[in-house]
Amino acid sequence: MTSPLFTPFKLKSLTLPNRIVMAPMTRSQSPNGVPGENVADYYARRAENEVGLIVTEGTTIRRGGASNDPSVPNFHKPDSLAGWQNVVNKVHQKGGKIAPQIWHMGMVRKAGSGPEPDAPTDSPSGMTHTGKQVVDAPTDAEVDDMVQAYADAAAKAEELGFDCVEIHGAHGYLIDQFFWDVMNKRDDRFGGTSLVERASFAGDIIREVRKRVSKDFPVILRYSQWKQQDYGARLATTPDDLEAFLKVFVEAGVDILHVSQRRYWEPEFPEVDGENGLNGAGWAKKLTGLPTITVGSVGLSGDFIHAFQGQGAGTRKLDDLEERLSRGEFDLVGVGRALLQDPAWARKVHEGRHAELADYDAASLAKLY
Ligand SMILES: Cc1cc2nc3c(=O)[nH]c(=O)nc-3n(C[C@H](O)[C@H](O)[C@H](O)COP(=O)(O)O)c2cc1C
Repeated sequence: MTSPLFTPFKLKSLTLPNRIVMAPMTRSQSPNGVPGENVADYYARRAENEVGLIVTEGTTIRRGGASNDPSVPNFHKPDSLAGWQNVVNKVHQKGGKIAPQIWHMGMVRKAGSGPEPDAPTDSPSGMTHTGKQVVDAPTDAEVDDMVQAYADAAAKAEELGFDCVEIHGAHGYLIDQFFWDVMNKRDDRFGGTSLVERASFAGDIIREVRKRVSKDFPVILRYSQWKQQDYGARLATTPDDLEAFLKVFVEAGVDILHVSQRRYWEPEFPEVDGENGLNGAGWAKKLTGLPTITVGSVGLSGDFIHAFQGQGAGTRKLDDLEERLSRGEFDLVGVGRALLQDPAWARKVHEGRHAELADYDAASLAKLY
């Protein structure tokens, strides 16, 4: 029987041969923000080995405070965009499809760090998640410019020939800081006591992006309940809250929701549909009808946070994932570390070469292959 992972997917102008998506993974190997030949080859290697869609590492938008690391690629300076053009060309030559993940770190960047150390910190309210006021809240006009900076990047993505674009709204970075009540204390239209009100920043971004790209060009939003500042944080604690939150993005014109979990087998609302209930991507699909991407420890037994602490992970069977995919719980499957370590992971799965799938070794992080 053909695995449901290897069935085609089509949405607007995007046609994929299978359901495997390379999850965005920061590699910090682009000196001066320019993705070089080694970065292009890294992605092309996954394209020629049956990854359906590649989502690139986060690449930063044109706000001085977007990045904390000069080796993270940016998505606005001419030499960086030329580097990305080369990445797109090489991936396309191998028959692959690719989206940039456009990114702004917000307050995760420490003031004084990154390629533009003197740039001001962008945030919703200048307040950390522990309630410390460290900088002034940005003005309305500044927030509007942040919105435009995302739209500029999305327009560039289409111009360079990328197949779609992903907006990074997850993991406690800028967009997620607007979602999160402990960091967003604004009382204008970008803030408020409800999650729906705090979603207006992302709603505006999606609307502006939609204006600047073709109707047929798919726009993906990645979000997460968890934050790097607090793994236990939750934006939406009930399906009703989640539905209202996601409606903001649906109405703004998003095409695909990428729901970041650390372990895809964990139920989003176990109190509603039990311990074997739908995961985050499952609920997002059920509540919006949009296609969704699941992610989190696919093919591996331990979650990715441990990878940053130098820990590896054993392999894990894909049967339960394939069952969920067959049932239509979600449409696409994000794979992170397994593909970081092994460019041929998707091909090996397709060809049933399971014995060749290795445990994840945290040392893989150090090399770009
Ligand atoms: C080295 C590394 C870098 C990452 N960088 C990003 C990033 O730039 N943007 C993002 O949304 N997620 C990032 N993530 C999270 C992954 O996209 C993914 O959600 C996570 O690794 C879980 O998938 P996995 O268990 O298959 O590795 C990163 C993960 C790793 C391991």
